[in-house]
Amino acid sequence: MKHAFKPLCAVLFALTSTAHAADDALVTRGAYLAKAGDCVACHSAPRGKPLAGGLQMMTPLGAIYTTNITPDPDTGIGRYTEEEFARALREGVAKDGHNLYPAMPYPSYAKINADDMHALYAYFMHGVTPVKQANREPDIKWPLNMRWPLKLWNVVFLDKGVYQNKAGKDVAWNRGAYLIQGLGHCGSCHTPRGIAFQEKGLDESSSTYLTGGLLDNWFASNLTGEHNTGLGRWSEQDIASFLKTGANAHASAFGSMTSVINNSTQALNDTDIASMARYLKSLPASGGYGGAAYAYDPKATKVSLTRPAATDSGARVYTAYCMHCHGVDGRGFAPMLAPLAGNPNVLEKDASSLINVTLNGTGDLVLNGIPAPYPMPRYAPVLNDQQIADVLTFIRGAWNNNTPAVQAGDVSKMRKATQAAR
Ligand code: HEC
Ligand code: HEC
Ligand code: HEC
Repeated sequence: MKHAFKPLCAVLFALTSTAHAADDALVTRGAYLAKAGDCVACHSAPRGKPLAGGLQMMTPLGAIYTTNITPDPDTGIGRYTEEEFARALREGVAKDGHNLYPAMPYPSYAKINADDMHALYAYFMHGVTPVKQANREPDIKWPLNMRWPLKLWNVVFLDKGVYQNKAGKDVAWNRGAYLIQGLGHCGSCHTPRGIAFQEKGLDESSSTYLTGGLLDNWFASNLTGEHNTGLGRWSEQDIASFLKTGANAHASAFGSMTSVINNSTQALNDTDIASMARYLKSLPASGGYGGAAYAYDPKATKVSLTRPAATDSGARVYTAYCMHCHGVDGRGFAPMLAPLAGNPNVLEKDASSLINVTLNGTGDLVLNGIPAPYPMPRYAPVLNDQQIADVLTFIRGAWNNNTPAVQAGDVSKMRKATQAAR
């Protein structure tokens, strides 16, 4: 009896500890998927507790606040069952049945498969520290605050159904498509939105998918194969380095993309990053505004900077304030200091991002806990609207960039919009 008991204990112990190990592995996988989904970027307030909600987000109807998704039973999602959790992510319906605003990217998360949903749920219930913090009501007044119209919105715009592998495409392409369209919700910024705030395409079957969009005063670039404003001149390796490190020979991350790199893509493994690059590189050119592919022209550079002082106020500002970092030749010192020559963001017709980054600089890119050494400074206190318009007009004309001028009126609009938000 005594002797039989011991091995039985050992067996039981072995069984429960493998069960624990399996649970731990599930929670760890869930944590990784939560990184891929960048839940923390929206569900945390500046300087607030991670995932406890409270971040203000602007919608066309007014400001709303993200909710507490820690497992606290009273103020968070601790009482959500797995089915309710999946319904919130896939259909935008909360536990009590109210519809969520599509600022929560459920049209993208609808594509998350059942295994991944299970792992995410395990992580949110067992891997996240509960925080007691009450949710804040949206600043939207009656009657616009009624949520039932969202049910109609869902009927028209929500594409239900998890991601299905596409025949004829390899494993990497399908993995990349799954991550980009689903958890990564890249289209929530990079796809233009229609009048009902819907993304004008949720996958590559739409020619507007990932052709660039303006959200929160940042223009998220065209990610199709377009050769000037898109990724046509980037290799898969260029895209991968950008997602992993926030910079490559062509451009650096700034604006709202910085937080995507800080909180999400830098944590993804090389296989997943390579798959995302593979998928993006397969998107045919779309958007942009035609014209020949950009080619660097050093002659154009020389002409622009040898006789600036007398005639060109933009070149004067550039020489005084920008040149020591971005270079006489506009090539910066990539990947540390962004090049401006041929940079897709500079060539983009919509200059919002350029104006915003020059006025306000950018939040630090933080890689493995270390902030970038020379972040783009903030010029709002130093340069007036006309000077910023002039320097950006200069940059958009120099080094063969050949992109339309920037108007002082657009700079003052951006100054007002972003100062209100500070
Ligand atoms: C782009 C911003 C954004 C991202 C990214 C995001 N959420 Fe949300 N989420 C929201 C907003 C906004 C709401 C509240 C919407 C409302 O009040 O109608 C919300 C609500 C929710 C709710 C409903 C909670 C409740 O209060 O009952 C859950 C659950 C949720 N999100 C989970 C997640 C998970 C898990 C992720 C990552 C996979 C995620 N969210 C990523 C913006 C976001
Ligand atoms: C919160 C908004 C937002 C989300 C979500 C987002 N991006 Fe971006 N992204 C931007 C903005 C704004 C830019 C332009 C500034 C820059 O180049 O960093 C950008 C730039 C980029 C660039 C560089 C393009 C260029 O021409 O310089 C790549 C590549 C990119 N994003 C890929 C992605 C991928 C892949 C995802 C999804 C995993 C994603 N982004 C999600 C806002 C976003
Ligand atoms: C201290 C060095 C420094 C100076 C000075 C500087 N920049 Fe930058 N700039 C950067 C860095 C670094 C980035 C990349 C984003 C980041 O990491 O902050 C950048 C990014 C940019 C971008 C976006 C391009 C991209 O893809 O990242 C534009 C446009 C820009 N700078 C314009 C200017 C203008 C105009 C001036 C002068 C008024 C200027 N910069 C002065 C360092 C500098």
